[in-house]
Amino acid sequence: MFKLASRARRVSPSTTKPSPLRPTLPLFRLSSITSMAAQQNQQTSAGVSASVSKPKQEKTFPVASRLKEGRALTLDVWSVFNAANLPPGCINLGQGYMNFPPPAWAREGAEEALRSVAGNHYAPPKGTLRLRKAIKQFYGTTFGKELDPETEIVVTSGANEGQYAVWAAFLEPGDEVIIFEPFFDQYLPSIVFNGGKPVYVPLHPSTETAPGVKIGKKTWNVDFAELKRAITPRTKMIVLNTPHNPVGKVFTRNELEQVAQIAEEHDLIVMSDEVYERLVFDGREFTRFASLPGMWDRTVTVGSAGKLFAATGWRVGWIIGPPALIKPTLAATTRIVFCSNSPLQEAAATGLEQARERGFFEQQLAEYEARRAVLIDAFEKLGLEYTWTEGSYFVLLNISRVRWPEGYDFPEMLEGRGRDFKAAWFIANEVGVSSIPVSEFYCEEHVDIGQNYARFAFCKDIETLRRAGERLQRLREFLA
Ligand SMILES: Cc1ncc(COP(=O)(O)O)c(C=O)c1O
Repeated sequence: MFKLASRARRVSPSTTKPSPLRPTLPLFRLSSITSMAAQQNQQTSAGVSASVSKPKQEKTFPVASRLKEGRALTLDVWSVFNAANLPPGCINLGQGYMNFPPPAWAREGAEEALRSVAGNHYAPPKGTLRLRKAIKQFYGTTFGKELDPETEIVVTSGANEGQYAVWAAFLEPGDEVIIFEPFFDQYLPSIVFNGGKPVYVPLHPSTETAPGVKIGKKTWNVDFAELKRAITPRTKMIVLNTPHNPVGKVFTRNELEQVAQIAEEHDLIVMSDEVYERLVFDGREFTRFASLPGMWDRTVTVGSAGKLFAATGWRVGWIIGPPALIKPTLAATTRIVFCSNSPLQEAAATGLEQARERGFFEQQLAEYEARRAVLIDAFEKLGLEYTWTEGSYFVLLNISRVRWPEGYDFPEMLEGRGRDFKAAWFIANEVGVSSIPVSEFYCEEHVDIGQNYARFAFCKDIETLRRAGERLQRLREFLA
């Protein structure tokens, strides 16, 4: 039995110059965005400021310290590398959303729901019974047992909100949560907002070349001695992410067994974020952490319809686990959002119900393997090291050899960030392909590990990836 968070018990159930290097490329329009504060002012005063000539001093309010501690006041990487800040023709391989739609037959589920009365109203907080049953069918016995849709599944507003609800349900102030670096950036604020303290254990890039390629490196590794040293009497939870964003690592059974041993020894909860579980390449084995001996009782598994069906805007996800972990999570999610949106739960249910007979996941996997091949070929040609992607839809490119001319005109908002922010900005503006600097996925003390890499997402159609691959060859001129 895991101790709940006491709060759960109380509530019951600059003007940018044209580039001197590529004057023919369409260039970014950044001058209006130099800080988050400036951005917010623009939004809040829109419409008012137009009719007022003298700028009015706005009243300010003290902001809760958790925003600062949770890194929520720093301009986030998604806003920096936002299409609005980049050249109009820039190919976006930055943020991990697809440039193609979810399957039409799954979307029909939502369309039908919107035509009904019930489909436009509140769903039960734990999710519609239809979706919970579809989730049970989808997973079958992969947890080593069949799931009980009443007590072992809770539908959430995307995986994000589900993870937030787990932390709200179980963290007391000062409880430590171990996360591997680089980490999906949302973990940090979600843990901190709920009083937790993230403890970082870095993954280590491999120096070995991956089989069958010239330049690509094998996936990153865990140093288990380091993991053990990170455990203290305050450790409450370990967060796993397999397949991993942004590294593309699929944890091996052996690695997961070592994590299981540590979790058992220290009586920890494990959150296994498996949102990319249907994107595991090269016939590699995917091990579900909760299916390891003894792990069901201490694990919450995280899933996302957004990743399964190329539908990141649906905001439908789920948390699976034993009733002792799911009941408090349901209590928390009920008080956070009450329920996830109804019509898109129907779309997710339709998707899960029909995917097998349509061979959807097999076809989708083959398409993603083809997309990965286009990007990896481009990196091989370019001659820059990258990490071989075992799963997910990201490739990490080592950008430490990229050099820009002295005095290059970078925007102010990149000051104080890792070197990778500048490299990714330079690549986006001079070559026309955007990516995400990986230091964003590290704590401040470890920025120097992450700043050698940029993350390229290949959840884009083949033609777009080909064009991006061609453009990236121009980077050769700027390599040390
Ligand atoms: C590792 C990981 N976990 C969780 C999420 C959030 O998923 P969702 O869009 O369902 O909230 C993402 C989204 O990028 C992710 O990469």
